[in-house]
Amino acid sequence: MNVKETVGIKAASYVKDGMIVGLGTGSTAYYMIKEIGRKVKEEKLNVIGVPTSTTSKKQAEEIGVPIKSIDEVEKVDIIIDGADEISADYQGLKGGGAALLFEKIVATYTEQVIWIVDESKMVDKLGNFPLPVEVIPYGQQQLFHLFEKKGYEPSFRMDKDQLKVTDSGHSIIDLHLKKIDDPEKLAKELDKTVGVVEHGLFLNMVNTVIIGKEDGAKLISV
Ligand code: A5P
Repeated sequence: MNVKETVGIKAASYVKDGMIVGLGTGSTAYYMIKEIGRKVKEEKLNVIGVPTSTTSKKQAEEIGVPIKSIDEVEKVDIIIDGADEISADYQGLKGGGAALLFEKIVATYTEQVIWIVDESKMVDKLGNFPLPVEVIPYGQQQLFHLFEKKGYEPSFRMDKDQLKVTDSGHSIIDLHLKKIDDPEKLAKELDKTVGVVEHGLFLNMVNTVIIGKEDGAKLISV
């Protein structure tokens, strides 16, 4: 069993009968969806999944996890998602899979947020992984230049030779910041930048982190 599978299965053990479960996106979250699917089939677990992307929706459908959209449920009990980086004070950087907007919306309306990662995602400070910023296509070149002037080293996310289009029809500008000294300040700045829909800083959001290691999983309550 690989490390991603270990944490995916561990996280699925938090899912109890009757729960509404946010289904994260990515190669680690996939194993959690797979394990929930197994429990639905073999243990008759009764759950509803709320996908955070077309990818996790498709996976849930193929695996056999019943799903509803975020607007069809009253509340979400738990979300299990991956992350690209988690800092020493448990702030997250997400969106490497371009699903940050739906991931953040579902997490915002969820009681318990769990992130599942391997050890390589644990960092001292965020920022070595490029920070995704989801933007409205209209005016995106202007935004790109603004980020350039600020020294944020932007690049448009590409999908082969085309601009990457998110599930909501937006573009992504990745900021190559190397190190983010003040994530709160940067998040506030991006939040009020016209044309920015969302960014990949997930601050003060997580309740439990499950870190996969070669010899098992380590749980941290935040
Ligand atoms: C999706 O947009 C991201 O936030 C993912 O959760 C993140 O990229 C982690 O993916 P992996 O588990 O594949 O590394």
